[in-house]
Amino acid sequence: MDLKPLLSDIELELQKQVSRLDAPRTKQFHEMLTYHMGWTGEGAGPDAAGKRIRPLMVLLSTAASGGNWQSALPAAAAIELVHNFSLVHDDIQDNSPKRRGRDTAWVKWGAPMAINVGDALFVISNQAIIDLKENYPAEIVVRAAEILNNTCLELTRGQYLDISYEERTDLTVEDYWPMIAGKTAALLSACCHIGSLLGGADDSKQEAYRSFGHYLGLAFQVQDDILGIWGDEAVIGKSAASDLVEGKNSLPVLAGLGKKGKFAERWAQGPIQPKEVEEVKRSLASEGGLIAAQDASKQMTDLALMSLREADPQGEAGEALSELADKLLKRDQ
Ligand code: IPE
Ligand code: IPE
Ligand code: MG
Ligand code: MG
Repeated sequence: MDLKPLLSDIELELQKQVSRLDAPRTKQFHEMLTYHMGWTGEGAGPDAAGKRIRPLMVLLSTAASGGNWQSALPAAAAIELVHNFSLVHDDIQDNSPKRRGRDTAWVKWGAPMAINVGDALFVISNQAIIDLKENYPAEIVVRAAEILNNTCLELTRGQYLDISYEERTDLTVEDYWPMIAGKTAALLSACCHIGSLLGGADDSKQEAYRSFGHYLGLAFQVQDDILGIWGDEAVIGKSAASDLVEGKNSLPVLAGLGKKGKFAERWAQGPIQPKEVEEVKRSLASEGGLIAAQDASKQMTDLALMSLREADPQGEAGEALSELADKLLKRDQ
């Protein structure tokens, strides 16, 4: 299936939604949002916009469960707006200077303005989901809005765990899964859940789609953790040192700590300095942190594919959904 028409309609829908903020007195505010979305400012273009995998997953889930993807565009935009709101706030929370190869919003305009940019994206996402009323009966719109809002609360719970874990030294791999289930998998799961709801899937099919998105989200975040340590900064568009420097208890780190070797000894001594990153990466890889994360990602992928088979996605969109899952898990950005 050619994804280009989906991607270009997603962009148009997002631009329409964000244009709610376009007013003469607050022109710069609107520009802050269009900068973050990748449409304006230096380096604007597809790389600055990100992969748009979440809205694609919404539309493909709708089509693969028998619906018309065009009708689901407001939901696809709503989810991508939630994702972008969470990135703007996450970059402040994580002290990250780069996103999609460009300066983050807080670096350009300061944290107070960036918080407000995130707030606006969040509110617009709620306005976008209500626009489903043009194409669906009220009870479906309310259900989609309910799933979206439950998801946002899960996301904040995951971020709470992620941030609070920075101070913890007693964590194990078991503490990791609830954290990423909230901060990442909840939204990917909502993509497939809402998508299949809009496509007319029955409850048990919706559950299979939801579960596919959940496991895909877990595998995706493990992959992000791997790239956040061993990735190529020029390709991922964000710092590959900051997870270690910020003291993030990512999966490779927690797996490495379990070995109680050289890595664990250094980690216990306090913050990793930027100049030590290369050496710490080497000891973490040689003490099994990388392999453990790769294995976990593979396991979660297998669970995702099992749920996808249960969902029994139809037609070209169904094939595109499995191809997208496959591509994501082999990604380098
Ligand atoms: C980044 O997500 C944040 C995570 C949940 C890992 P993506 O890798 O999907 O980000 P973009 O939208 O493509 O930049
Ligand atoms: C991803 O958080 C989840 C959210 C943004 C809610 P991370 O902090 O792990 O993701 P990156 O590496 O900054 O994209
Ligand atoms: Mg974070
Ligand atoms: Mg981050």
